Amino acid sequence: MIEADGVSKRYGDLVAVDDVSFKAEAGEVVGFLGPNGAGKTTTMRILTGFLPATDGTARIDGHDIFEDPLAARRAVGYLPETPPLYPEMDVAGYLKYVAKLKDVPRARRGEAVDRALERCGLADVHRRVIGSLSKGFRQRVGLAQAIVHEPSVLILDEPTVGLDPIQIREIRQLIADLASPPDGAPRHTVVLSTHILPEVEAICRRVIMIHAGKKVLDEPIEELTGDGRRLEDVFTRLTLGVDDVPEAGAASPEVSA
Ligand SMILES: Nc1ncnc2c1ncn2[C@@H]1O[C@H](COP(=O)(O)OP(=O)(O)O)[C@@H](O)[C@H]1O
Ligand SMILES: [Mg+2]
Repeated sequence: MIEADGVSKRYGDLVAVDDVSFKAEAGEVVGFLGPNGAGKTTTMRILTGFLPATDGTARIDGHDIFEDPLAARRAVGYLPETPPLYPEMDVAGYLKYVAKLKDVPRARRGEAVDRALERCGLADVHRRVIGSLSKGFRQRVGLAQAIVHEPSVLILDEPTVGLDPIQIREIRQLIADLASPPDGAPRHTVVLSTHILPEVEAICRRVIMIHAGKKVLDEPIEELTGDGRRLEDVFTRLTLGVDDVPEAGAASPEVSA
């Protein structure tokens, strides 16, 4: 479970994240939807302990990210925009290395790696060098490194960016299975970011729209589109509405970190 409580991040005069609060339960896939520069990555980096917040805090499975950062970090798996893959390592060797970094006890590392390989559909390529894999398979390795220490919370930053339509479908299915595993394994809480509307409609149960650092919407997809409304219209109204145009010097929708 994730509970974010008034999280803010300032860079000088720029408020990149502005008082964002939300909750996400186990088994939920929550979509962070917003234009480039909205503050999605910054929020995710705060939740994963990579970046200190200016204000507010968050709890990951009840562990406060500032008061109990080690426990919080252990409970979270993170797929950054650019996963830290080592192209010259083989898949299994790399996952073993990540498991060690994440404090998985030596005796359990082999088993942890096998499980991550299995869940991410990587068993057949476990001896392949990462640099020789297709982008879709490298993204699977990125997901595998996020889950190898069996965190209950997964934070995925634009997990399908740059993939072809078949790879996108596979990765989306994989994410859905991580939230609600078909084999009855523990369910993850998943937060993923995207600027692609159909992505949210395809895999998320709830959408949190972020615009100019602020949470402007937090609703189940069903309710948003229930009475024939289109998510696209809601998105356009909230992100391009006259009342919502950022002031000069504020986050520009075109700028991405
Ligand atoms: N290290 C940084 N220093 C200054 N500004 C930053 C930094 N990182 C991000 N920003 C700014 O914060 C805002 C939010 O960025 P980001 O969280 O990357 O948005 P998103 O992931 O939604 O595209 C943008 O205006 C971006 O330029
Ligand atoms: Mg981003």
